[in-house]
Amino acid sequence: MKTAAIILAAGQGTRMQSDLPKVLHQIGSAPMVIHAMASANALQPDRMIVVTGHGGDLVEAAVRDWRDDVHYATQSEQLGTAHAVQQAAQALDGFEGDAVVLYGDTPFVAGETLQAMQAARAAGAAVVVLGFEAANPGGYGRLITGADGLEAIVEAKEATPEQLAITLCNSGVVMADAATLMDLVNAVGNDNAKGEYYLTDIVGIARERGLSCAAVTCGEQETLGVNSRIDLAAAEAVFQWNRRGRALDEGVTLTAPETVHFAFDTHIGRDVTIEPNVFFGPGVTVETGAEIRAFCHLEGCHISEGAQIGPYARLRPGAEIGGKARVGNFVEIKNAVLHEGAKVNHLTYIGDAEIGERANIGAGTITCNYDGVFKHKTTIGADAFIGSNSALVAPVTIAAGGYVASGSVITSNVDEGDLAIGRARQVNKQGLGARMVARLRSLKEKS
Ligand code: UD1
Ligand code: CA
Repeated sequence: MKTAAIILAAGQGTRMQSDLPKVLHQIGSAPMVIHAMASANALQPDRMIVVTGHGGDLVEAAVRDWRDDVHYATQSEQLGTAHAVQQAAQALDGFEGDAVVLYGDTPFVAGETLQAMQAARAAGAAVVVLGFEAANPGGYGRLITGADGLEAIVEAKEATPEQLAITLCNSGVVMADAATLMDLVNAVGNDNAKGEYYLTDIVGIARERGLSCAAVTCGEQETLGVNSRIDLAAAEAVFQWNRRGRALDEGVTLTAPETVHFAFDTHIGRDVTIEPNVFFGPGVTVETGAEIRAFCHLEGCHISEGAQIGPYARLRPGAEIGGKARVGNFVEIKNAVLHEGAKVNHLTYIGDAEIGERANIGAGTITCNYDGVFKHKTTIGADAFIGSNSALVAPVTIAAGGYVASGSVITSNVDEGDLAIGRARQVNKQGLGARMVARLRSLKEKS
C-alpha cells in the first residue's frame, strides 16, 4: 500500500505577530513544517506534498534546504482546511494509495500514532481521524462517536452546549484512500459560522455515503498545535525535554540535561559526555567518547571520537574536529579541519584553515583569513608549533614540523622544520629600568 502525505502549511498564523509564515518558526533550530514532515516519514510516504499559501516562496525555499523530494501545491486564498486539501489534487496526479493529512503547525505527532491510523484503515475504516482527550477542549473540533465508530466532527463554533461538553477532540490528522479523500473534500461546502470549507465535514459526508469512519486517539502532547509565541516556547520546551530523554536513552551522559539545548538534527554517539549549558545549533554530529565541556556553542560541525571541546568553545559551520583533538576555552573555529590530535587550547581564532596532526596552536593565535574583501586559507602541517599570540596572515602555509616564535606576524610560508620569527628584536638597556623609576619618583616628590 502506497502512502502520500499532505502537509497543510498555507496559513498566516496571525497570532504569531510575525512577518515570517507560521510554519517557518523553528523548534530545535528546524522549521515546524520540517517536524511535521518528519512525523509523516514514519509511514515512508511515496509522495510528500506541502500546501503553501502565505509566504509560499519562503516556505518552499526553507523546505528545499532540508529535502529536495517534495511536491508543492499552492492555496492562494485560505478558504479552509478542506479547500487546502483540494489544492493537492494536481500534486496527487497518478497516485494510488492512502493519503494522510498533517498540519504544518502541529510538530509532534508520533510515528506509532500514524501507524495505528494505518492499522485502523487496514481494519476497514474508510476515513480515520486522529483524536485526543483535551484537558481544555476550547476551540477544538469535537468528535461525535457512536456505536459504529466516528459519526461526525463538529467545529466548536457550530457545536451545541451538549457537544461542547465532549472532550474527545480533533487533532486535524486524517487518513483515507487518496481518491476517496478528494471526492469527499470536493463535496464539502462553506455554509457555516466561519464561511470556510471545513475538512472536518468529510466525516459526515462519508457517513451519508455509507462509508465507515473511525477515530484513533493519542496523547494530547502529540497534537500540540502552535498558534502563538507562547505555544511556540511551550513546544520548544516539549521538544527539548523529549530530545534530552532520547540522548540519555542512547547512552549520552548529560550532567545537567535541563541546560543542554539540542537541534532537530543533532547526532550524538554513545559515551559522549556533555557538561552543563551546551547549545547545539543545526548540523552537529558528535562521535563516540567525545567530551563537550560546559558552555560550548556548536553548529554545523563534526566532532570525532575522543575529541575534547571546551569549556567555552565555539564551533561554527565547517569545523571538522579530528579524533582526540582538543579545542579549549575561548577558541572559535570556522570552516577548518583539525586533524587527529591537534591542539588549540586557548583564546584562538581558526578560520578557513587546515591544521595537521598533533600540531600545537599556542594561546592567542589568530588566522587572519579575511582581507576585507576575500577569504584566504591557512595551512599548518603535522607536528607544527605555533607560538602564542601569533598572527598568521593568509594565504600562508606552515609546513610540517614548522615552528613559529611567539608574537610573530607570519606573512610568508615557513618550510618544513624551519623556525620563523616575525617580530622586532628585543633590546636590553643596562640599569635603565631602575634609573627611570628613580627619576619618576623624584619628579613626584617635587610636584
Ligand atoms: C482545525 C480543525 C479542528 C481541530 C484543530 C486542531 C478544521 C475545520 N478544524 O481547526 O477541528 O480541532 O484544527 O488544531 O479543520 N490551513 C491551510 N489553509 C486553510 C486553512 C488552514 O493551509 O485555508 C492550515 C493552517 O495553516 C494550519 C492548519 O491548516 O496549519 C489548521 O488550520 P487552522 O485554521 O489553524 O484550523 P483550526 O481552526 O485550528
Ligand atoms: Ca489551529
